[in-house]
Amino acid sequence: NKVWEVPTDPFASPFNHSEGLQWEHGCQYRHLQESVRITADIPPRLDGTWVSTCEVRPGPEFLTRSYTFHPSRHFQALQHYYTDSSCEYPAYSLMIRGKLRLRHASWVTRGATEAEHHLNRVAIVIHSLAAKQRIATRLPSICTGLTLAGVTPGKPHELYNTRAGRGCLAALGFTMMEMGLIRVETQHPSHGGKVQELLLGDVHTDWTQRTQHRPTGYQEPLQNAMNHIHPCPVCALVYRSSEQRPPVLPRRPASALYLAGRWVSQRCETRPNVLFLTRDFTFDPEQHSWEGVYRHYSDPTCSQPTFTLRASGHYAQGNPSAKISAATDFVFKVTAVKVTAAEQSIAKLLNATRPGKCGRAGSWEAGVEQDLTPTEGCALLGIKLPHKEYELLKTELDHRKHPLLFIGERPTDGSSPDRPQRRPTSFQAPMALCSS
Ligand SMILES: *[C@@H]1O[C@H](CO)[C@@H](O)[C@H](O)[C@H]1NC(C)=O
Ligand SMILES: *[C@@H]1O[C@H](CO)[C@@H](O)[C@H](O)[C@H]1NC(C)=O
Repeated sequence: NKVWEVPTDPFASPFNHSEGLQWEHGCQYRHLQESVRITADIPPRLDGTWVSTCEVRPGPEFLTRSYTFHPSRHFQALQHYYTDSSCEYPAYSLMIRGKLRLRHASWVTRGATEAEHHLNRVAIVIHSLAAKQRIATRLPSICTGLTLAGVTPGKPHELYNTRAGRGCLAALGFTMMEMGLIRVETQHPSHGGKVQELLLGDVHTDWTQRTQHRPTGYQEPLQNAMNHIHPCPVCALVYRSSEQRPPVLPRRPASALYLAGRWVSQRCETRPNVLFLTRDFTFDPEQHSWEGVYRHYSDPTCSQPTFTLRASGHYAQGNPSAKISAATDFVFKVTAVKVTAAEQSIAKLLNATRPGKCGRAGSWEAGVEQDLTPTEGCALLGIKLPHKEYELLKTELDHRKHPLLFIGERPTDGSSPDRPQRRPTSFQAPMALCSS
C-alpha cells in the first residue's frame, strides 16, 4: 500500500528535501553563494507545461520539447526535430497524446517515481521538402501513406493511433520510454521565487536499444514554463510553439573551445545504473594534462558520500566534430587513478580484494586515499590502467555569459568509449567554470 515509500538504508536521508550542493572553498559556484534549497515531492506534481532549450540526443538528434500535463493525467508532448545542432532549421515535429499513470517510488533510482504511459495518438508534421525526402527513406511507405507524393509539408499525418500498430514509430526510432522515470525538483532561492525542473528518464546511447530501454538515469531537465531560470527567451519560443509552428532558435554566437581552468557539476548528477555523482575537472592546456574528481553518493541530493575517484592523465585535441558543429573530437588518456572510500562498507569491500588486484589489499581504510596505479587499476571498480577514451567536447556560454563545458555522454551500457567508433554523439550535463 505504501507505494510512495522506498526502503531505507543506513545512510538514508529524507528524500523530500535537501540543501544545495556544497562546493568546498575556491569554487564559488553561483547557486551556492545564494544557498538554494531544493525540494522534490514524491509523488511529483506534473501539471503544467515544461519546456527544453535546444537538446542533443545520441545519434545525434537535435530537438526541442514542450510537454503539457493535465490534471486528468492526459498529456500532450511536442517534439520538434532539427537538421542542425543550434535548432535553427526545423525538419519535423511530432505531436504525441497519451495518458500517464504514476505507479510508485522507484526502488532503483532513489528520489524518482516510476510511471506507465499509454499512447493515444502520434502525428507528424514535416516542415521542408528536404526533411520529407529524408523521412521517406526511413519510413515504410505504408505509414499513413507517407510516400513522397502523399505528404504535404505543414500538414499533420497520423503515424499512430489506438487502432494502428507501432511499426511506423519504431522506424523513426520513436519511443516515450523516458516517461517511465520521473522526478520534479523545485529550487527555492533565498531571494524568493522558485525554479521547477522536470527530470525524465534517459535515452539509450545505442540506437538499437532505445525502444526497449527502461531508464534508471535522467536526461537534461525540462523547465516549468511558468517557473524557469530567468532570463530564458528560448523558453518562451518553445512554449508558444505548435506542431505547425516549430520554434526557430536564434543563432548562438560561436564560441571557441576554451578548456583551461577548473569546471564543476552544477547539480547532483544521475547516471544510469544508480550512481549519483558530482564531477570536478581541471585542465592545463599547456601541459595537455587533466585531472577529474568523481565524487559518488548514495542519495539523489549528493549528501551521503560513498567513494571518490581521482583520475588524471593527458589529452590530445583532434578535429572539429564531423557530426556536431561547434564540438571537437578529443582523445583522453587516463594514466593514474586514486580512490578514497568514504564509507566503511566500501573500504571493507576493497580491502578484501586479492593482493595485486586493487591497490594495497589489507590497507584500505575509510577516508584514506589509495593509488591504483601500481596494480594497473581495480577490477572490482572496472578500472584498467592505462586507458584511452575517445571523447567529444564543446564549450558554450549560458544565459549569464558564464562558460559551460560539455563532455560526451557515457555509453548507457556502462562500457567505455575506447574505440573511435564508440565516440559519443551527445553530452552529459554541462559543468560550470569556477571563478579563479
Ligand atoms: C514533502 O514536502 C511537502 C511540503 O514541501 C509536504 O506537503 C509533503 O507531505 C512531503 N512529502 C513527504 C512524502 O514527506
Ligand atoms: C583491512 O584488512 C586488514 C588486514 O586484514 C585489517 O587489519 C583491517 O582492519 C582491514 N580494514 C578494514 C577497513 O576493513
